[in-house]
Amino acid sequence: MKIGCPTEIKPQEFRVGMTPNAAQEAVAHGHEVLIQSGAGLGSGFTNEDYIAAGAVIIDTAEEIFASADMIVKVKEPQAIERKMLREGQLLFTYLHLAPDPEQTHDLLASGCTAIAYETVTDASGGLPLLAPMSEVAGRLAPQVGAWTLQKANGGRGVLMGGVPGVGPAKVLVIGGGVVGTHAARIAAGMGADVTVLDRSLPRMRYLDDVFGKVFKTGFSSAGYTAELLQQADMVIGAVLIPGAAAPKLVSRAQLATMKPGAALVDVAIDQGGCFETSRATTHADPIYDVDGIMHYCVANMPGAVARTSTIALGNATLPFLLALADKGWRKACEDDPHLLNGLNVHAGQLTYYAVGKALELDVLAPALALKA
Ligand SMILES: NC(=O)c1ccc[n+]([C@@H]2O[C@H](COP(=O)([O-])OP(=O)(O)OC[C@H]3O[C@@H](n4cnc5c(N)ncnc54)[C@H](O)[C@@H]3O)[C@@H](O)[C@H]2O)c1
Repeated sequence: MKIGCPTEIKPQEFRVGMTPNAAQEAVAHGHEVLIQSGAGLGSGFTNEDYIAAGAVIIDTAEEIFASADMIVKVKEPQAIERKMLREGQLLFTYLHLAPDPEQTHDLLASGCTAIAYETVTDASGGLPLLAPMSEVAGRLAPQVGAWTLQKANGGRGVLMGGVPGVGPAKVLVIGGGVVGTHAARIAAGMGADVTVLDRSLPRMRYLDDVFGKVFKTGFSSAGYTAELLQQADMVIGAVLIPGAAAPKLVSRAQLATMKPGAALVDVAIDQGGCFETSRATTHADPIYDVDGIMHYCVANMPGAVARTSTIALGNATLPFLLALADKGWRKACEDDPHLLNGLNVHAGQLTYYAVGKALELDVLAPALALKA
């Protein structure tokens, strides 16, 4: 198969769909890998790295889209890229179609077959191609929160780990899923006093079993949250209710009960945010002040550490990418129902129910798409 990997063109996107190591494995499987010149630079990979891996460097995205059988990307194809997709071509990337009727329309019109990273599943009910980015955002959250807490950034001037004779920062993590667990681990590793709130008792049992005394767990009731908010130097928002906007768990009025200069890091901002006062920010201007409380609400946190994010995403996508290239998408999806769950569009038809429901479009059962 000819596998094409164009440079990402969405603003502020520095990741790339294939690492040189992924390219090398695909080449070893007998595939031809076409990388757009400079595609890896944002993640620290040069053209020479890809050439050494056996890939071919191509000057333009147009040439890649014209010749590749499968396009591997990170972000959803932008309008100019969607025009270059064609019937029978396979697209493997994040799509997030439900809130995006324009993209959905263009993908249907192109006739391509599109497999979305975010809907591929695993045997434990998780989302294996979303998890690496949640891990990155979770581990980054205490790091950016610690920076926000510094005096020059408007923060309270508290050091995460304290020092001998001075107590550590108190960190409250709301939501103990992938983001929250990784955030709690890193905050505790920095020496902070960490509590994780969740509403799922099985999840809290798991956290307690695995992490013991590294951090505390608590039930996320409105009353207990309000109590802990008053003591917190940093609050990390990491809740998710699948398919719904994030619940607002901290109101504007509650900010007045917090310590002045405390930091709120709302990782759930990509689902609308879990603090009433959250609004999405960018890496260029990440923090703002509401009533003396500093907010960090960057919607694409993994972009700050593009190299780590690219490699983490590449590790997760590689087995699926190789299956698609080795067997073709039909056989790969027939053999692996979790990969079939990633199928969102095929030959002009939508094949993912939640997207059809959100956009009020007809859906072809994925199993029928395999035969279409
Ligand atoms: N900003 C970014 O760059 C970025 C990057 C990755 C993920 N995210 C977002 O971070 C959020 C968390 O993702 P995740 O992968 O950890 O999800 P997850 O499903 O693994 O975890 C979510 C957790 O929230 C808990 N929860 C639900 N309602 C709650 C409540 N009222 N109080 C406390 N806990 C509650 C759930 O029980 C679950 O344990 C999502 O919105 C995701 O989109 C943002």
